[in-house]
Amino acid sequence: MSIFNTASGNPATDVENRLQIEHLLNAATLSASVLAEKSDVIAGLTQTPKYIQARYFYDDYGSQLFEQICDLPEYYLTRTETAILQECAIAISEITGACELVELGSGSSTKTRILLDAYEQLNYPLRYVSIDVSAGILESSAKALLADYPSLQVQALVSTYELALKQLKPTSLPNRVICFIGSSLGNLNPQECKTFFSQITRALQPNEYFLLGIDLHKSKEILEPAYNDSQGVTAAFNLNILKHLNQRFDGNFDLTQFEHLAFYNETKRQIEMHLRSLRSQTITLKDLDLTIELASDETIFTEISRKFDLDSIQQELQSQGLKSIQVWTDANQKFGVLLCRLLH
Ligand code: AVJ
Repeated sequence: MSIFNTASGNPATDVENRLQIEHLLNAATLSASVLAEKSDVIAGLTQTPKYIQARYFYDDYGSQLFEQICDLPEYYLTRTETAILQECAIAISEITGACELVELGSGSSTKTRILLDAYEQLNYPLRYVSIDVSAGILESSAKALLADYPSLQVQALVSTYELALKQLKPTSLPNRVICFIGSSLGNLNPQECKTFFSQITRALQPNEYFLLGIDLHKSKEILEPAYNDSQGVTAAFNLNILKHLNQRFDGNFDLTQFEHLAFYNETKRQIEMHLRSLRSQTITLKDLDLTIELASDETIFTEISRKFDLDSIQQELQSQGLKSIQVWTDANQKFGVLLCRLLH
């Protein structure tokens, strides 16, 4: 814990002393990633069927809409995971002992607080490493946490998961748990999922932990309304991806000429979100030197949200060297939280 100053009478200075922000995305990696992004967007929009990567949902407005989605009556995911964490947080902290919490994609860190509370109750030192590409969200949520947890130390890494996982330094605490909650895993296809698990495995030392929150397979009657809410927030969230592309790449998508479409693909066990073009239209994204044609009713694929089953995900984890040592679900088996440990 040598990098931190602790004692201080001034609360503002005190927060500064307990916060360390590191930008892993330097000028060179940034410009390389901008180039890669541009060619990804071009590839997606020139392919059949067309697609846009789900990460373009999350500009400031999109992140706000996502927070609203989490509170929707039909969107059971966040509520259910929160309830599970409230039930199992103490058990997790007892199993892991004093631990550094590393979180991938921390967002507003509401659920992180449940874990921090549990470690605090056991009088463990509190240390939180948050990783997100958005510096703004990272800094504001880190400061809010520091204000509420007087002994907490935070290291905020402005970085992609991949880069941060590669550069994680060994912790000075007795153990570490990498958290990937909120069913973000659902956005990865099976191949991407495998790659992601192997990145986790490489980032962990033997006996360190991986905490995973995933949405589970269930009936269409529950799944489809969660992505077609009656207030139209999910539709606005989906359409906002076009506005984001307009802003990022000087484009002219007309949001009124597209329609939100979300359904459960039972074979692949994934919710699919698309945007359907309401007429034939030509779109130009000037920054990409790209003009595309869309036929009437043609769809652009924007997101997969996979729904898992506990047995197969445990097998998948096991095949990557991650043994699931405890699993928690809600009474209706809607959502699962798995605590895994890296086998040596
Ligand atoms: C943040 C990926 C978990 O898949 O349920 C919510 C995103 N998309 N409504 C999900 C989302 C539409 C969400 N994840």
